[in-house]
Amino acid sequence: LDEKIWLTLSFGMIMVFMLFTGYQAVALGMGPPSHKETIDPQKVDQTAPFDEPGIKQIGENEYEVVMTLQIFSFTPMNLEIPAGSTVHFTLTSKDVVHGFQVADTNINTMVMPGHIQKITQKFDEPGEYLVLCNEYCGAGHQAMSTTITVK
Ligand code: CUA
Repeated sequence: LDEKIWLTLSFGMIMVFMLFTGYQAVALGMGPPSHKETIDPQKVDQTAPFDEPGIKQIGENEYEVVMTLQIFSFTPMNLEIPAGSTVHFTLTSKDVVHGFQVADTNINTMVMPGHIQKITQKFDEPGEYLVLCNEYCGAGHQAMSTTITVK
């Protein structure tokens, strides 16, 4: 009888844990900052704004970057912006889950296929900022990086 109680208890705890994890994933959109917009990962190239990835100036010291992540690169690569710029990133993945981490900033997020991730960051200090994928995405994961040059 004792064993049955423990089995039931541990099974119950596993269920509660799974429900909680599932709830967190849905409620938090897999970690902030996140955005609830969705996109068909098969049609990224044909879906605005990702049909025209790139950098666009939208105000004085304000830029919009539309970027796709795919094994094993970022599009566009090697961005350049003037110091003091605020950059609004709009990101999605074309295949698997990638990461978008920018060294020396607070940017560190997952980029998932089917989801649009939006992040805003101000770049004050001139320098070369390393951009890394921090989610294992396959054999070329280690090489998935680029830079943002602030000058
Ligand atoms: Cu993309 Cu790791």
